[in-house]
Parts: sequence; structure tokens; C-alpha cells
Amino acid sequence: MTRIIRTVEEWQILRSELKYSDTLGFVPTMGALHAGHASLIKRSISENGYTVVSIFVNPTQFNNPDDLKRYPRTESEDLNQLEKLQVDYAFIPDYQSIYPDDFYYKVTENNLSLTMEGTGRPGHFDGVLTVVMKLLNIIRPTRSYFGEKDYQQYMLVKKMSEAFFMNVEVIPCPTVRDSDGLALSSRNVLLSKEDRQRAPLFAQLLQSDKTAEQVKVELQQSGFAVDYITDFEGRRYGAVYLGKVRLIDNIELKQNVS
Ligand code: PAF
Repeated sequence: MTRIIRTVEEWQILRSELKYSDTLGFVPTMGALHAGHASLIKRSISENGYTVVSIFVNPTQFNNPDDLKRYPRTESEDLNQLEKLQVDYAFIPDYQSIYPDDFYYKVTENNLSLTMEGTGRPGHFDGVLTVVMKLLNIIRPTRSYFGEKDYQQYMLVKKMSEAFFMNVEVIPCPTVRDSDGLALSSRNVLLSKEDRQRAPLFAQLLQSDKTAEQVKVELQQSGFAVDYITDFEGRRYGAVYLGKVRLIDNIELKQNVS
């Protein structure tokens, strides 16, 4: 049985009852769980004595109120999935539990967070880093798992854990893709039928041998609104819009592409 915890106090009691030698894996999510989340959860279960998954649609990381309103919320289906995966604990707090300070305190990074996702979405990473810091402080896991689809987020969380000497291992997990190559994302369900058919071209072009500029032009010619295609430290990152839906992806660059 997956035990559901909705308050910080309840979790803290359970956490203090875990033995010192018990390892605890943590997968933070915003719900609308898909096979990408399942792969993080399975990895956590295989590497730890206990696993806790949080579900919290974090309002402070949405720079666009419509995006927050549209974000899929599927709590009972999510709980069924956690049950099937045999997750020990589901932590599902409300806003007040996580933000008793009303977001007067925040974690800000002033370098990597100002590029790529940070450029088009001002304040986004302040919200992400703040909620992840809060969740890690509440859950106190041994290991925490992040999907490589959000590679910039993974790097920022990892560097935050190092900068603040946090006692947690931050582990990246490979992006899970649909059979047509589209990276799994909770936002994919919001795509219209036509846009869903067009979407795999994004991953295909990112993975091609073309330059970032060529990829950008070809995506624009195919009806994508391109936010950025950027090569950075051996990876190619991209963000596009299809209709109102924002998709992001990234891949490791092959040696011969610069
Ligand atoms: O990747 C996500 O789903 C979110 O950014 C996270 C890490 C759960 C923080 O809200």
C-alpha cells in the first residue's frame, strides 16, 4: 500500500521512525505521471530501501498563469500508478504547507539559470530551486532522481546541492521517449491531434547532424515557434511552441557536431 501523506508534520514523524541505515529515494513530481516518471521511480525503488514520490504543482515556477491553469491534474490516476509501482509513500502537500512564508524567501542562481529556459521564463528557476530545496529539507532523502529531459534543471539542482553542502545524491535518469521519438512530458496531452503528429520532428531535428541554426530554420518552416536551439557543454538544448504548448528537449552532441 502506498501511504499518502499530506502534511509536513506527518512526514517528519514517519521520517524519524526510519532507521539510520535505511536508504530513502525521492522522486519529486508535479503529477500527471507518465512512463518517464515511472522510470525514475523504478530506479529509486531498485536503489533504496524506501521510496517517496511527491506530487505538488508548484505555482512559483510558472511564469505564465494560463500554463499553470492548464497544467494537467490527475491525482487519483497518479495514486493508482504509485500503488502499482509499489511506492512506499506519496507526499501530496498543499500550497500553505510548502509556502508558509508566501515565497518571501527564495533560492536564486545567477549564472546558468539566466540562459535557455531562464531567458524565456523569468523567475522559473527561482521557483524550481526554492521548491526543490524545501522538498529536500522536508523529505531528507539519501538520493533524489531527476529526468534528463529537464537537463538544465538537473544541473541547477545538482549544483545547488553542492553549493549548500546538502546531504543528498542528485541522480540524472535518461529521457524516456514515445516510439516516434517525442520526449515524454506531462504537457504532451495538451497537444492538438495535428500538433501531436508534427511534434516528433523536434526530437528528430535535434538529433540530426545539422547545425543549431539549420535546426531552428527547419523547425520554423514546419510550423514550430522556436524559443531557442542552443549548443552548450556537449549537449544541444531546444524549446519550441506548438500552439500554446511549450515543449523542451535536449540530446548529447556527437563528437563531430559543434
Ligand atoms: O520537473 C518537475 O516536475 C518540477 O520542476 C519539480 C522538480 C518537481 C519541481 O517542482
